Amino acid sequence: MAKRLKIIWVAGARPNFVKIAPIWKAMLDYNSSVDAGRPMFEPILVHTGQHYDVNMSDVFFKDLELPKPHYYLGVGSGTHAEQTAKVMIEFEKVLGKECPDMVGVVGDVNSTLACALATVKSYALPGGKNPLLIHVEAGLRSGNKLMPEEINRIVTDAISDILFTTEESGNKNLVREGIPKEKIYFVGNVMIDSLFQILEKTDVNKVLRRFEVKALNFGLVSLHRPSNVDRPKRLKELMKTLDDIGRDVPLLFPVHPRTRKRLEMIGWKTTNGVTKSKWHGIRTLSPLSYKDFVALMSKAAFVITDSGGIQEETTALGIPCLTLRETTERPVTVEIGTNKLLGNTLETLRKEVKDILAGKSKKGKIPPLWDGNAAKRIVKILAEIGDDR
Ligand code: UD1
Repeated sequence: MAKRLKIIWVAGARPNFVKIAPIWKAMLDYNSSVDAGRPMFEPILVHTGQHYDVNMSDVFFKDLELPKPHYYLGVGSGTHAEQTAKVMIEFEKVLGKECPDMVGVVGDVNSTLACALATVKSYALPGGKNPLLIHVEAGLRSGNKLMPEEINRIVTDAISDILFTTEESGNKNLVREGIPKEKIYFVGNVMIDSLFQILEKTDVNKVLRRFEVKALNFGLVSLHRPSNVDRPKRLKELMKTLDDIGRDVPLLFPVHPRTRKRLEMIGWKTTNGVTKSKWHGIRTLSPLSYKDFVALMSKAAFVITDSGGIQEETTALGIPCLTLRETTERPVTVEIGTNKLLGNTLETLRKEVKDILAGKSKKGKIPPLWDGNAAKRIVKILAEIGDDR
């Protein structure tokens, strides 16, 4: 009888779903192709409920062909401590019931940290057998501890047993922080696996027609970081700048719930989930499905963002990315990709967009191992580790 490896995968927020999907698929593919006698995976999917709106969660499960989660923890929003604590309490119950061999967490959101902490302490549970903790997308560091994600990354990496990295900087950061080399595996980027998989299945031109934009003749905007949206003065200046840019080139801006709340506080109105602009240059939209967002991103003239994943996706697609942050935890996107870090000066943003529209955009290369096969590498390594245990 083949050994069975029970692995719980944790997904809580929008970018997590994108990272889990290719791993899930690779595990099922492995199970159907593996020789007799090798370990088989028994995957369990846990959704913490950190993101719960239909268009932040359900739509992603559908586009990414993820199964209905085995457990939905329903933790919802709250302060950082509340959200983290609620996930820990609920996830500990799942650990007690399932006693998995391994637990996989991805990325850097509060659910990642909470489930990592509950896992490494689960030996204290009755029947607990100390599962191995896997961190996918380990080692990324912005150097800015004011970002909640940075704390989540540092702590999760410090307590993980198996660390999968996406870029060389991740390997270096982990070694510098004293993580033994034998725990680190450079496998590439699962987010790019998902990107390539969804593009293959999407009629991009149909999406462009639906949004009434022409290829390479519009900008796509995605902003939700506290540093850009939480202070009303900053948000007003940002929206004014975007509105000015939008007079030269159409801008599509799908609005994250966090940003929508802040926009309402500075006088924007929302109807049926669509934020009505009192200016004219920007078309604000409800958050988009993964399929629609990726299709638009693949044909945008440029993307303006403060997200982590979008910096990577634009690099993989060769689309210019203007990042409104002082630092990035994904330096490879700046060093060899199409990403430019603009800091917080909005004048630079206007200038960069003008340059791109004049045909002077940054060209980039695709980073090593961002080839659509990262999840397969992860699953192969996990099967080997599981076999040896
Ligand atoms: C979280 C992650 C961030 C990630 C982002 C992607 C942390 C610390 N941050 O930030 O790293 O880039 O997700 O989207 O985990 N809300 C809704 N509906 C939802 C989800 C959230 O209305 O479905 C509201 C919440 O009420 C809250 C706000 O949006 O007020 C922020 O949500 P939260 O998950 O706390 O953090 P994000 O800003 O989304």
